[in-house]
Amino acid sequence: MESENRLSGVDIIILAAGEGTRMKSATPKVLHPVGGMPMLGHVLNSGRAFGASRMAVVIGPNAPQVTAYLERQPSAVDTYVQTERLGTGHAVQAADKFYADVNHCNIVLFGDTPLIRPQTLDRIKALLEGNADLVVLGFEPQNPTGYGRLLTEQGELIAIREEKDASETERKISLCNAGAMGFAPGVLDKLLASLTNQNAQNEYYLTDCVELARAQGLSVQIVKGDVVDAAGVNSRAQLADVEAMFQDRMRRQAMENGVTLTAPDTIYFAHDTEIEPDVTLEPNVVFGPKVQIMRGATIKAFSHIEGAVIGENAIVGPFARLRPGTDLGPDTKVGNFVEVKAAIVGKGSKINHLSYIGDARIGASVNIGAGAVTCNYDGFLKHTTTLGDGSFIGSGSLLVAPVEIGANAYVATGSVITQDVPADALAFGRARQTNKDGRGASLKENLRAAKAEASKRK
Ligand code: UD1
Ligand code: CA
Repeated sequence: MESENRLSGVDIIILAAGEGTRMKSATPKVLHPVGGMPMLGHVLNSGRAFGASRMAVVIGPNAPQVTAYLERQPSAVDTYVQTERLGTGHAVQAADKFYADVNHCNIVLFGDTPLIRPQTLDRIKALLEGNADLVVLGFEPQNPTGYGRLLTEQGELIAIREEKDASETERKISLCNAGAMGFAPGVLDKLLASLTNQNAQNEYYLTDCVELARAQGLSVQIVKGDVVDAAGVNSRAQLADVEAMFQDRMRRQAMENGVTLTAPDTIYFAHDTEIEPDVTLEPNVVFGPKVQIMRGATIKAFSHIEGAVIGENAIVGPFARLRPGTDLGPDTKVGNFVEVKAAIVGKGSKINHLSYIGDARIGASVNIGAGAVTCNYDGFLKHTTTLGDGSFIGSGSLLVAPVEIGANAYVATGSVITQDVPADALAFGRARQTNKDGRGASLKENLRAAKAEASKRK
């Protein structure tokens, strides 16, 4: 191959047409989530971060969910349909219009191998930029069952043997095929034309490219990757294994970035959780997608957080639930058994105990007492509650939205607030209390007598 061609770009082809039978699922395998994002999304993100020139995904013939998912991608992805599932080599051929006539290198990835990192793709690229014509990502899994084995002679890769085609001795080989393969410009075209399906599964194996390349005198090389990059998902158990590896990666990354995790194994991240340094996460915190936490904040134990921005030095939990659209300002406090949804909470405001705050705009230095609730939903529409700076909401108050409480206003404990409260006003929204002298004692006397009468009749 001419060297100027080798440097002109790398295109990525992701195989995602398999049926995923072993998942026993109505959802296509590549859409099963890891860290809250479909596996296919992880592979696409990795390709983007690596800087792929173009990307293509090969999908099955009846995959409307996968098509819909690809249409929602932030950048263009070419889609090719493999009409019959005849193996990984055959799947790549479905994208022949993508790789023919373009002088780019190609890296083929699997949609069911979600933890592959951009830096691993860089290593494949580096060899292709050298003199390699074909690069295979190898790894040594703890349990090699199900993976293709890399057959080597004096360190040279001579063939990949699928488990089903392997002899007893070949099965003892611990070096396996991770699935990612790099091809110098034109090589894919040249090799795939001569693939056959003479094997245990009567499939066109992409892995046979190794032997074909050697027969044509091309240079075949191995990149050794780690087990996490290479872990494939064929079953629910492997999905759980990969989730665990992903979580482990996220936890280490958070700690490297300066976040304290008191009990790392009990923290569950989403793929896009963003946490600044000097945040502390106490045990048993679970993140859904789209969470951002600023410097110095503390998330106390057993909190569940999704779609939320948490400001500097805020304190959340224990046992808090933050739902999408929550935006907590700096120095805010959200305490135990508080649920917040679609609410902006200004600097220094406190919602410390047993509240539901939904569809609200809360100013700075507001104090919301125990058990106060925004009644945001009338069964048909959601309405907004607005609380001015410095306002005080007494415990057990119900704020019936739409309603606005002015700055520094004071809502008396136990109020049902149905009308706006002007700034600086004191609002009572409760019945006046009356005390009847002596009536407590006589009431008890009557009740005791009634109970005695009732037990006599039994
Ligand atoms: C494959 C490799 C094996 C490797 C392992 C790594 C082959 C022949 N075997 O085995 O060497 O160790 O991955 O995880 O390549 N696919 C299609 N169309 C098809 C068949 C598969 O698009 O006709 C896609 C699947 O959606 C999947 C990927 O290709 O994303 C791999 O297919 P799968 O059946 O899971 O292969 P493995 O048996 O895991
Ligand atoms: Ca697989």
